[in-house]
Amino acid sequence: MTSASQERDKWGSKVGFILAAAGSAIGLGNIWRFPYVTGQNGGAAFVLLYIIFVVVIGLPVMVAELTIGRTTERDTVGAFAKLAPKSLWTLVGMLGVATGVGILSYYAVIAGWTVGYFFKTLGGSFSHLMTAETSVNIFTHFVSNPAAAIGLLFVFILLTALVVMGGVSSGIERWAKILMPVLFVLLILLTLRSVTLPGAGKGLAFYLKPDFSKITIGAAGKALGQALFSLSLGMGAMITYGSYLSKKENLVIAGCYVAFFDTLIAIIAGLMTFPALFAMGLDPAGGPGLVFVVIPTIFAKMPGGDFFGAGFFLLLSVAALTSTISLLEVPVAYLVDEWKWTRKKAVLIMSALSFTLGIPSALSNGASSWLSKIPGIGTGFLDLANIVLGNYSLTLGALLISVFIGYKWGIKAAIAQNEKGGNTFYFKNVWAFLIRFVCPIAIMLIFVYIIWTKNYF
Ligand code: TRP
Repeated sequence: MTSASQERDKWGSKVGFILAAAGSAIGLGNIWRFPYVTGQNGGAAFVLLYIIFVVVIGLPVMVAELTIGRTTERDTVGAFAKLAPKSLWTLVGMLGVATGVGILSYYAVIAGWTVGYFFKTLGGSFSHLMTAETSVNIFTHFVSNPAAAIGLLFVFILLTALVVMGGVSSGIERWAKILMPVLFVLLILLTLRSVTLPGAGKGLAFYLKPDFSKITIGAAGKALGQALFSLSLGMGAMITYGSYLSKKENLVIAGCYVAFFDTLIAIIAGLMTFPALFAMGLDPAGGPGLVFVVIPTIFAKMPGGDFFGAGFFLLLSVAALTSTISLLEVPVAYLVDEWKWTRKKAVLIMSALSFTLGIPSALSNGASSWLSKIPGIGTGFLDLANIVLGNYSLTLGALLISVFIGYKWGIKAAIAQNEKGGNTFYFKNVWAFLIRFVCPIAIMLIFVYIIWTKNYF
């Protein structure tokens, strides 16, 4: 266990770090959020925007966050305090801590559904699933049960707390190493079944043939938010993870690995979802329940479907767990580093807080009609949290981080830090250009447009 008086924990190995960072990045964001946001924003054209943002904004911000973390060896708030003492920049760290707790609260609700679907599949609920309508009914019934939703939220927060209590190398790293490759194989199997279903072609066209009229600034804002969410950027998770990283690692290479695998998994998840979705005659803009409705219909049409299905939801739960761990680690590292709390106390209090904040999200999918469709806003509480925290707050965070490193701390200092210990900073001039000009300007344009057109959701 790490306590304030002991030496700060470090990743056990380079592979361990990449897997933990990839574990943070790869999660429900790829398999649950990416397909439904793509479905709502027009398909292939959105995928194109998404990939562009991963490369020109995601990667540079990833390198920026890792650099800030490794240089300071502090939590998100402490990192800004160290590089810009007695300035308002620490507020960026505070925003990150608050965003982390907030995202965790609703993310764990969805993760809880995944656990629930594991048990449902195991129990054979989907063995004879013939129509999309049955799948929709099963889902609607399941998520509107308040006891199940809150119970599973609790279970998931508890699991996260237990791992984070163990500290970074023994807890997080060990978990991240083992199960990701297996998830990948299952994802490929489901994809193969999905693309060979009769009627899959329409889905492939929707997903792969861009309709350029769908490229709007509104869609760009969603694509950027999704890229940041999926890469775990904009709230200091990568600052915190970078702070446990040894000076020897090459951050650009590490960042490229993480971004590559994260994007690969998201793309495959779409390839798994849309052919089956169109084959079943479902609406691609169906929203957050999309994947939970579609996936069972795929393995209902597979030999050994219950087995693969249960395996899939189990591994998806694990992928979600390696992500919730990083969400909880951000506020915990802050309290341990800055407030000198013990890791145990920080974990207990932050997980209790996230659980409490998660309750309205858990009840916003049919259990409470008010929370499910908030008057005057029209969306449910979970959807609202997902867009405000999981989109705008991360985008704002990414803007502030790029301005901080580009203009306050400075490109020169950041590059020098990365070249310490004999590392080569590949494409450093490209990075400097992207982080100083492209990131802030693109993000500001998107914000101005959204506020101008009041196109918030
Ligand atoms: N990236 C994770 C996913 O795709 C979610 C996540 C974990 C996250 N840590 C984060 C998102 C930090 C933003 C910031 O599922």
